[in-house]
Amino acid sequence: MGSFLSFRGFILGLLCLNVSVGFVIGIGVNWGTQDTHAIPPATVVKMIKDNGIQKVKLFDADYNILNALSKSGLQVMVGIPNEMLSDLSKSVAAAENWVAKNISSHVSNGVDIRYAAVGNEPLLSTFNGSFLTTIFPALQNVQSALIKAGLSNQVKVTIPLNADVYDSGSSDKPSDGDFRADTKDLMVEIVKFLSDNGAAFTVNIYPFISLYLNPNFPVDYAFFNGYSTPIDDNGKIYENVFDANHDTLVWALQKNGYGNLSIIVGEIGWPTDGDRNANLQYAQRFNQGFMTRIKNNVGTPMRPGPVDAYLFSLVDEDAKSIQPGNFERHWGLFYFDGTPKYQLSLGTANALVGASGVQYLAKKWCVLSSSANLDDPQVALSVSYACANADCTSLGYGTSCGNLDIKGNISYAFNSYYQIHDQLDTACKFPNLSTVTTSDPSTGDCKFRIMIQPYDTSSSSPNGRVRAPGKPVCIFLFVFVLLFTIM
Ligand SMILES: *[C@@H]1O[C@H](CO)[C@@H](O)[C@H](O)[C@H]1NC(C)=O
Ligand SMILES: *[C@@H]1O[C@H](CO)[C@@H](O)[C@H](O)[C@H]1NC(C)=O
Ligand SMILES: *[C@@H]1O[C@H](CO)[C@@H](O)[C@H](O)[C@H]1NC(C)=O
Ligand SMILES: *[C@@H]1O[C@H](CO)[C@@H](O)[C@H](O)[C@H]1NC(C)=O
Ligand SMILES: *[C@@H]1O[C@H](CO)[C@@H](O)[C@H](O)[C@H]1NC(C)=O
Repeated sequence: MGSFLSFRGFILGLLCLNVSVGFVIGIGVNWGTQDTHAIPPATVVKMIKDNGIQKVKLFDADYNILNALSKSGLQVMVGIPNEMLSDLSKSVAAAENWVAKNISSHVSNGVDIRYAAVGNEPLLSTFNGSFLTTIFPALQNVQSALIKAGLSNQVKVTIPLNADVYDSGSSDKPSDGDFRADTKDLMVEIVKFLSDNGAAFTVNIYPFISLYLNPNFPVDYAFFNGYSTPIDDNGKIYENVFDANHDTLVWALQKNGYGNLSIIVGEIGWPTDGDRNANLQYAQRFNQGFMTRIKNNVGTPMRPGPVDAYLFSLVDEDAKSIQPGNFERHWGLFYFDGTPKYQLSLGTANALVGASGVQYLAKKWCVLSSSANLDDPQVALSVSYACANADCTSLGYGTSCGNLDIKGNISYAFNSYYQIHDQLDTACKFPNLSTVTTSDPSTGDCKFRIMIQPYDTSSSSPNGRVRAPGKPVCIFLFVFVLLFTIM
C-alpha cells in the first residue's frame, strides 16, 4: 500500500517528547508574530495562562514579548532566525552577544528560559542547503556562549527540525527509519552534540501536510480515532501517522547510537482555512485527539509516557508567506484577535478562553458599491492589488468564504485591504468600485473581519511584521500605468 511515512510533513511540523522529566510536562504553544495586527503581549500572556498552557516557543527574541513573559511562570524556548546562523557560525563573540542580549538579560529579569532554538527547520529541502554549513557551528557557538554565561544547565540548545531529515525509505515501518542519506553525517554530529550536552532533539511533525500533498493519503490515518488497516511493525501497532513518524525518528536515533535522546515535538497542529482539508472540524478532531493523548501520557509505541509538545499555533498570522499554501495563515487555535475557533480541552478547562479586553476598530467594512460596473477592467486589477497587499486566503475552493459569488469575492478583497490598512479612508478608494458600509457583509462561516487596534511594536519589529502604510495613491498609479500599457 505504499509508504505513508514518506508523506510526512515536509514543510511544517512539530513534535516534542521529553522522557527525561518525571513530573507533568504540560502542553506548550508556538507564539508566532508574523501578523499585521498583533494582540498586545501582556494580553497574550494572560490568555496563555488562562488556558492552562505551561510553555511557549518563540521564533525570535522579541524584546516586548520576553518582557511580558517576565515572572509569568511560563517556560520559554527562544528561537534564533535562520538569517542569523551565518553570523553566529563565524564567531563565538556574536553568539556571546546574542546570549547576553537575548537570554541573560531576560533571565535576570525573571523570564524562565529553558531552551535556545538555533535556527528553524534549517535543513528543509526548500532552503536548498543554504544552512548546511552554518547550522552546526552556530549550535556549537551558542552552546559555548551559554556555558560562558553560566547558563548551560538551565538553558539547553536545540534545533527545531522538520521531519524530512529522516525517513523509512520505501517502507511504511518505523523500524526501517534512519536519517536521510544526504544529511546523515551532519545529523549524527548534531545528535551526538545534543546528547553530550544533555539537550533534546526537536522535531516538527505535520499529518495535515501528508493529507495536503497526497490526495490518496488515508484520512483516518492522519487522526487519532483509529484506522482500519494499522501498520504492524514487529508487534508494535501504528494507527496514526503521528506515532509512526515519531517512532521513525526514535529508530533513526537508536540505529545511530542515541536511542535515549529526549525528543521535543516543536510544532504540531492543524489549520482551519485555506484548503479543503483545513477546516474547524478537522482541526478540532486532530488537536483534541492529540491533547487527550497528552493528558493521559499515552506516548507512542516506542516511547510510552509523557510527550513534550508545542501546539502550532496560538493565533492566526495574516502576514505569513503563503508559499507552502493558503492554509499557512490559519494555524491558530485562536483567530488573529484571540477569539477561540472551536471547542478544545487543553488543560483542566473544557473550552478555550479567549483574549480579554481586545480593542477593535470601528464596526465598518469596505465593500463593492452597488453602482459598480463589473465589466470595468479596473475590477480585476483592484482585486489583485488588494489581495496582494492584504489576505484573500479565505477565498477559493473548500475555504470558509468559498461559496461567495463574484461580488462577494470582490467585497472580501476590498475589506481585507481596508482593515489591514487600519480602515483609512484612502484604503477604500478603489476607483468607482468601493464604498464603506456599516452593515456586516458576513454570511455563515464566511467572516468579513474587523481589525483590532494596532499595537505599537516599533521598539522591536523583527521578522516579517508587515505594517505597510495605506497608500491608495499606489492603486491609482498602478491602475493607470496598467491601463496605459494595455492601450
Ligand atoms: C537579539 O534577537 C533579536 C531578535 O531575534 C535580533 O534581531 C538581535 O540581533 C539579537 N541581538 C544580538 C546581539 O544578537
Ligand atoms: C531553491 O532552488 C529552487 C530551484 O533551483 C529555486 O527556485 C528557489 O528559489 C531556491 N530557494 C532558495 C531559498 O534558495
Ligand atoms: C538507555 O537507557 C536505559 C535505561 O536507563 C539504559 O539501560 C540503556 O543503556 C540506555 N541506552 C543508551 C544507548 O544510552
Ligand atoms: C472567488 O475568488 C476565488 C479566489 O480568488 C476564486 O477561486 C473563485 O473562483 C472566485 N469565485 C467567483 C464566483 O468568482
Ligand atoms: C469614475 O466614473 C466616472 C463616470 O462614470 C468617470 O468619468 C471617471 O473617469 C471614473 N473614474 C475612474 C478613476 O475610473
